[in-house]
Amino acid sequence: MKMKKRLSLLSAAMGLLVLAVTCSGVKLQAADGFAADAAIGVALPWIGTQNWAEADEMFKTELKKAGFKPIVQHADNKVPQQQQQIESMIQNGVKVLVVGPVDGSQLGAVLEEAKAEGIYVVGYDRLLENTTAVDGVVQFGSVKTGELQGQALLDGLAKLKGKGPYNIELFGGGPADPNAPNFFKGAMKILQPKIDDGTLKIVSGQKEFTQCATLDWDNSKAQARMDSLLSGFYSDKEIHGVLSPNDGIARAIITASEQAGQKIPVVSGLDAENESVKWIWEGRQYSTVAKPTDVLVGKTIEIIKSLQAGKGLPAPDTTTPNGKKDVGLYELAPLVVTKEHEKEAFANDPGRLELLK
Ligand code: BGC
Repeated sequence: MKMKKRLSLLSAAMGLLVLAVTCSGVKLQAADGFAADAAIGVALPWIGTQNWAEADEMFKTELKKAGFKPIVQHADNKVPQQQQQIESMIQNGVKVLVVGPVDGSQLGAVLEEAKAEGIYVVGYDRLLENTTAVDGVVQFGSVKTGELQGQALLDGLAKLKGKGPYNIELFGGGPADPNAPNFFKGAMKILQPKIDDGTLKIVSGQKEFTQCATLDWDNSKAQARMDSLLSGFYSDKEIHGVLSPNDGIARAIITASEQAGQKIPVVSGLDAENESVKWIWEGRQYSTVAKPTDVLVGKTIEIIKSLQAGKGLPAPDTTTPNGKKDVGLYELAPLVVTKEHEKEAFANDPGRLELLK
């Protein structure tokens, strides 16, 4: 009985395979790998924050060092530009496409085209949404990043702003970036109980992601929102803390607060950008979250090498739903950094260590 069942399952599976091969007309991905000097495409969203500028540089050098031909481009935050860049990478015969999307859900058609050519598609830093044409995503845990930001804000308030209750405001990142709602969600997991018990007061009442998001991660838009929050709600009040989704927005929030004559609030961040590494050292910004670009690029190249050698995709750490499928996630651990252990955190990063003087 058992044997029969197994046999029929096996033949059903074979049937499906034959069907897939004969009907699809789709090129199968080479299970035996591809040339060691193949072209690899890297499509980045922009280079407006340090992490993406570093990725742009590092992919060019590290892919070359590994023997590949890198085609690395960034799209100035414009969806059509990124679609065209990916089209041209496909035409140039790349074997793997590494994609940090401008908008997580706008690349389905062009990525499906890539898949039809037998190209592997790996999401970099950001999730690729609403498409089956993705083989895996490499990133630092995005909800975890938000949790670290929320916890840092709470810790900083307790440390620097007395007993509370504390007046705070919330900022989110670019709404097209799938990381942004996840960062916010992670932070709210930590902050919500403290809002509910009255420890935290969001004076403006703006607590939904859509109210707090910063279009295109644009620092000047965040600064304008902070200016109007301060003039609208804080003319007779101190602002004690602000949740910020990254370092550029953190510096915009701090600058607006200084200009409004406020004492500097406790502000979270992300990326360990050089400028913020200095501000933390000087006590101007409270925290950041480090997600080292070299580690993320290194992990991506490890995956590309495995595909090149015909070993397929390494086993992912976990999966996440993208609207169309559960995507394998290679998830690295982000690290919160405050002044207290800043030297320790950058012990292996001479460039950043140099800034702590
Ligand atoms: C990245 C952040 C970056 C932001 C804006 C996000 O997807 O994870 O590191 O600050 O994009 O560029």
